[in-house]
Amino acid sequence: MQQISSFEQYQQQYKHSVEKPEEFWAEVAGSFVWTKKWDTVLDWNFTEPKVKWFDGAQCNMSENCLDRHLETKANQTAIIWEPNNPNETFRSLTYKELYEEVCRFANALKKIGITRGDRVCIYLPMIPEAAIAMLACARVGAVHTVVFAGFSSSSLSDRINDCDCKLLITADAVYRGEKKIDLKKIADDALLQTPGIKNCIVYNHRDSPVLMMEGRDIWWTDAVKDCSAENVAEAMQAEDPLFILYTSGSTGKPKGILHTAAGYMVYVAYTFLNVFNYRDKEVFFCTADVGWVTGHSYLVYGPLLNGATTVMFEGIPNYPDHGRFWDVVDKHKVNIFYTAPTAIRSLETYGEAVFKSKDLSSLRVLGTVGEPINEEAWHWYHRNVGKENCPIVDTWWQTETGGVLISPIANVTPLKPAFATLPLPGVQPVLLNETGEEIHGNDVQGNLCIRFPWPGMARTIYGDHNRFHQTYFSTYKNYYFTGDGCRRDEDGYYRITGRVDDVINVSGHRIGTGEVEDAIDEHSLVIETAVVGYPHDIKGQGLYAFVICTGTITDEESLRKEIGKIVAEKIGAFARPDKIQIVAGLPKTRSGKIMRRILRKIAEGDTSNLGDTTTLLDPAVVEQIKAGAL
Ligand code: PRX
Repeated sequence: MQQISSFEQYQQQYKHSVEKPEEFWAEVAGSFVWTKKWDTVLDWNFTEPKVKWFDGAQCNMSENCLDRHLETKANQTAIIWEPNNPNETFRSLTYKELYEEVCRFANALKKIGITRGDRVCIYLPMIPEAAIAMLACARVGAVHTVVFAGFSSSSLSDRINDCDCKLLITADAVYRGEKKIDLKKIADDALLQTPGIKNCIVYNHRDSPVLMMEGRDIWWTDAVKDCSAENVAEAMQAEDPLFILYTSGSTGKPKGILHTAAGYMVYVAYTFLNVFNYRDKEVFFCTADVGWVTGHSYLVYGPLLNGATTVMFEGIPNYPDHGRFWDVVDKHKVNIFYTAPTAIRSLETYGEAVFKSKDLSSLRVLGTVGEPINEEAWHWYHRNVGKENCPIVDTWWQTETGGVLISPIANVTPLKPAFATLPLPGVQPVLLNETGEEIHGNDVQGNLCIRFPWPGMARTIYGDHNRFHQTYFSTYKNYYFTGDGCRRDEDGYYRITGRVDDVINVSGHRIGTGEVEDAIDEHSLVIETAVVGYPHDIKGQGLYAFVICTGTITDEESLRKEIGKIVAEKIGAFARPDKIQIVAGLPKTRSGKIMRRILRKIAEGDTSNLGDTTTLLDPAVVEQIKAGAL
């Protein structure tokens, strides 16, 4: 695969990718192992929508991540695992070892009856077994759905049931900092509600006592016992599903975003190589959890497709102290470091003393993802972590896009702090106004859409193609609508301004207001809730809940705690509201629609200009809410 090495080359590649997209992507795809080459490169329309890349081809993701490298990189480290507790020994797996572990586990999956197309849920902590399980699923053609280990049992069972998983893979327990999370216990609660699950494979990570259900639960070590370390990868059709990953939207339950075998593979490999300007033998450290798309694309698949060494860190940035990320960088001589702005902002508050004893000279490229980065945090990162020598790639993308769409190319694109800069080759962004017209020229702002398919894009929402169409392709006809607002400055550089829908981005985690409202409404005293986002110094956005209750509440503090607990149980602790205001009413239009614009303003603390409130059913309600604002 060709690596872009100059800005002129980027411009040429970009031009080529727009003028002759099929030729461009066929060239990129030429670097992979195909059991059978494609009949057509691209077949598409954004009306149904239908998108097929490399149709007729056959390939396997796991074979391309592992087998392909065995000749030249068998003894090179594929994964370095850094444990939560720095005093425990780290693990590393070479490409050969990872290949063997994956083959063994693939054979174990087959032995218990997992075959092509079966859905498998992975609920594991950040341990190499998570990557092994993903790659083994890909190898046998099973579709994995990884659920972030911070999700609650009811979120887990909802996801398992939505895509009808047959198997759950989990671990006994995990420590995150000093906190122990009993994953198997959470899984057991979920499994009470999941009739489709036949088996549960349990990895013994912490020797923590667990209940094993006879006939259903199997220890990982027993599952792989006597399994061969060789396995022939299934030849998958290009458009066979590779994985489903749930993400939150404005309304309704989380959506199972589906990615397919060939296009996703080609796209994440290409973007990893180019965005990070990856060089052979470098160590890449992405701090995202495998439970999110960043973990899928740039911790596991992108690096392994490129034969890179990828660091998997089990812990958290502030344990045992606030210098932990830099310890990991120093210890493993990390060359490329990729994290979320929220982590940078939170570390920023602890000052610069933590850097004193750390050697960060191995670093060459820095990256950010998940939310807009403010200029101040960008400069702090550039100065203290990159020592003003490392380019920062501010990568904009989404679960649905599979890989990065707008980002600088390290060492190639001239940077501008807090700008995702320019589209990658193959990506055709446009800004549209409210009425759906394209906004041309520079120094403009609008809703960010993409007008042409790229190989890594999601193909559907599992089991609900109509919702896929409605959510992404109906707002603007013949465009993919991202849900983000964006500015294109006088130089044509893109700066993402944030969501324009009811999705809130808390610490880089996408949270649907509807989901949190539904959870809060489960409290017996709650009648109605409206949740909005507000600017938060560390998290980017915080959650502000306005709640109407029955009767008179005498102990508001206890009620707030109970509401927080319900949200943690229904969704996960990360979705707990930061502020809960008990209100007598919500600002509604005469047709009963909550005017969130007003609530957002109040949550932001900006009550001077609430706009037109005359259409409200009861304008007095606004004054009451303003008076009690937190
Ligand atoms: O609002 C954008 C924001 O995160 C959303 C996608 O969230 P998710 O699907 O969870 O994927 C996160 C990791 C790719 C986007 O719609 N976002 C992501 N990256 C950036 C960003 N906002 C600004 N700048 C970014 N670099």
